Amino acid sequence: MNLILLGPPGAGKGTQSVVLSKKYNIPHISTGDILRESVKAGLPLGLEAKAFMDKGELVPDEIVTGIVVERLKKTDTKKGYILDGFPRTLQQAVDLDEALKKESGRIDMVLYFETSPKVAIERLSGRRVCKKCGFNYHVKNIPPKKEGVCDKCGGVLFQRPDDKEETVLNRLKVYEGQTKPLIEYYTKKGLLKKVSGDMMVEDLFNVISKIFSDMKLA
Ligand code: AP5
Repeated sequence: MNLILLGPPGAGKGTQSVVLSKKYNIPHISTGDILRESVKAGLPLGLEAKAFMDKGELVPDEIVTGIVVERLKKTDTKKGYILDGFPRTLQQAVDLDEALKKESGRIDMVLYFETSPKVAIERLSGRRVCKKCGFNYHVKNIPPKKEGVCDKCGGVLFQRPDDKEETVLNRLKVYEGQTKPLIEYYTKKGLLKKVSGDMMVEDLFNVISKIFSDMKLA
């Protein structure tokens, strides 16, 4: 099952990817996570990407597409994969199609998480991330047992720099201008399936699981 999760920042793509990846035993490939790891490791790629990420702008297509195409060559993608946060521009989508064609690969479904800006802003401003294992929490919706401490590994929770209000507003603007056209692109290909990103985590997970079983994808 080769999936793309599409939707605005804060739609819950990362949160669903984690549970779907576990249930269906396929890797979760998040371009945001890969870029943040490169920033943390001080890699040249990370240094280049950081300037864009801090402003809520998109990292140039050729950088991001190169990362994904290389990642898809790894053997753990043979059974399937979840692309979270990629593609994010029409150019990335076209380049992904080209790369998949060369390898006789294909995308089975694009899950579009339709989410209201109000919900997205509320989620992003309350998101807290574990410094050690990267697990995501939300101060109100998905709080840790002990404030500021990760339930899973005891790591310290922090706010992503790009979750500050002014950057969030720009990320939503960038999404509207550059990523939303992908809805039409994948609708025309007959791959788009819309779900409500505004639902509770578990309810949405059940809806998605049912879609997969109805369509015999899993
Ligand atoms: P990235 O990390 O991909 O950020 P994003 O797309 O903006 O997505 P988010 O992680 O903010 O949201 P999400 O939908 O995953 O929501 P989440 O599950 O975390 O990208 C960051 C940056 O990297 C970009 O701005 C760009 O610069 C660069 N980049 C990445 N990919 C790129 C690409 N392809 N091209 C160019 N540049 C790229 O949930 C959010 C919060 O809500 C959490 O606190 C969570 O606990 C909570 N929550 C989740 N679901 C629910 C729910 N159902 N109910 C209640 N709370 C929920």
